[in-house]
Amino acid sequence: MHRSLLLLAIFFLRTHDASVDFTRQPPRPLVNTYHDGPESHPQQVHVSLVGNKYMKVSWVTDEHNVPSVVDFGKVSGKYDSLATGETTSYSYFLYSSGKIHHVTIGPLDPATTYYYRCGGTGPEFNFRTPPEKFPIEFVVVGDLGQTEWTSSTLDHINASNYDVLLLPGDLSYADTHQPLWDSFGRLVGPYASQRPWMVTEGNHEQEIFPIIYPKGFKAYNARWPMPHEESGSKSNLYYSFDVAGTHIIMLGSYTDFGVDSDQYKWLANDLEKVDRLLTPWLIVLLHAPWYNSNAAHQGEGESMRLAMEQVLYDSRVDMVFAGHVHAYERFTRVFNNNATPCGPIYVTIGDGGNREGLAMIYKEPSPSISLFREASFGHGRLRIMNETHARWSWHRNNDSASVVADEVWFESLRSSPSCGQNIQGHDEL
Ligand SMILES: *[C@@H]1O[C@H](CO)[C@@H](O)[C@H](O)[C@H]1NC(C)=O
Ligand SMILES: *[C@@H]1O[C@H](CO)[C@@H](O)[C@H](O)[C@H]1NC(C)=O
Ligand SMILES: *[C@@H]1O[C@H](CO)[C@@H](O)[C@H](O)[C@H]1NC(C)=O
Ligand SMILES: [Fe+2]
Repeated sequence: MHRSLLLLAIFFLRTHDASVDFTRQPPRPLVNTYHDGPESHPQQVHVSLVGNKYMKVSWVTDEHNVPSVVDFGKVSGKYDSLATGETTSYSYFLYSSGKIHHVTIGPLDPATTYYYRCGGTGPEFNFRTPPEKFPIEFVVVGDLGQTEWTSSTLDHINASNYDVLLLPGDLSYADTHQPLWDSFGRLVGPYASQRPWMVTEGNHEQEIFPIIYPKGFKAYNARWPMPHEESGSKSNLYYSFDVAGTHIIMLGSYTDFGVDSDQYKWLANDLEKVDRLLTPWLIVLLHAPWYNSNAAHQGEGESMRLAMEQVLYDSRVDMVFAGHVHAYERFTRVFNNNATPCGPIYVTIGDGGNREGLAMIYKEPSPSISLFREASFGHGRLRIMNETHARWSWHRNNDSASVVADEVWFESLRSSPSCGQNIQGHDEL
């Protein structure tokens, strides 16, 4: 497009945005990361929740002779416990991964800092386990990538405390170029080694190659195994877990979801088992949004919505987070395209900072169910205060600063007199 035409287009777009005084952010270059320690030293360390009292420590070593052990304890430099885990590795065309280690450690105390060392050598890391009870704070951010915008998003995430990071898909944007999975691991390592990162897959995790890698997800499944077996799921592409009174369901937009699929059956069963007395809050993440008024990726989540929306609605899911669209959008409570008091709140938060840049064009006029939309990089925070109240906020990257651009309080559906009637655990409220 001619430059002046482009500027004109941007001018018109901006007049429709939620905050007209804010200049849109162009994409930024990739960040290069290197491993400058010995080949036996851990890199790309990240941790994830496994069941109630355990944490999985994952890392990569270039050297294949390193044992998969983690020393850990509550005092820095003093490791009174040791756990042994498993390893994997994979190849993708000419690329061969390093040794990928996964070690589950525990039982761990809640809201406690643990110090740990990977493979019996190298630097010390530490993480803090989530609290056992409310309040708990989740960071939610999708479509992260590994650009300079990603770095500032990560900085802002880390600048204020949180317990668990939830990522609704599209991690590294390696797009079959496997060394980018390693550089992504190194970029997020300083953060993902300190707090559990719980992820689900996006389209950029697929890396399907006809005939040779028809099922895809080779790198994703080897590097980011999530606790799917613990939640009765046969696939790493969908699973659920409980943390501090919240049941979180990670769905897979890029595996079968029709009513006859394993995923659907698993979901229906998982929802059936949710006890709102133990986990009053019920949250779902997936990649391709079911509700979206951006011009990008229109309709891509529609077949999944048609298959699964009813069962989520019937279970009184509180919130559904999606990524994929590189922008922020918050909807009211919705069911079947209409505002309704008992539906989930839908949020698109695919604005972590990847190299593809922002999705700038919105459908006009804005549908009445869409309450806030803006194409800027940033991250979200869900702070669940107690059984009834939570605060959601969206933090836009304003260059190097983080600015709260959207903030809303809401109440759990379980505590709602009219919506919470038929859900398990309601009577005891
Ligand atoms: C994240 O914040 C903590 C607490 O301020 C700090 O100790 C740590 O170094 C930060 N991590 C990174 C990677 O900046
Ligand atoms: C839950 O938190 C909200 C917001 O902080 C507060 O107004 C409310 O009183 C709390 N409810 C209970 C039962 O503690
Ligand atoms: C965003 O950053 C600019 C430049 O640093 C500053 O002038 C502006 O006030 C900031 N906006 C907000 C909403 O903080
Ligand atoms: Fe995507």
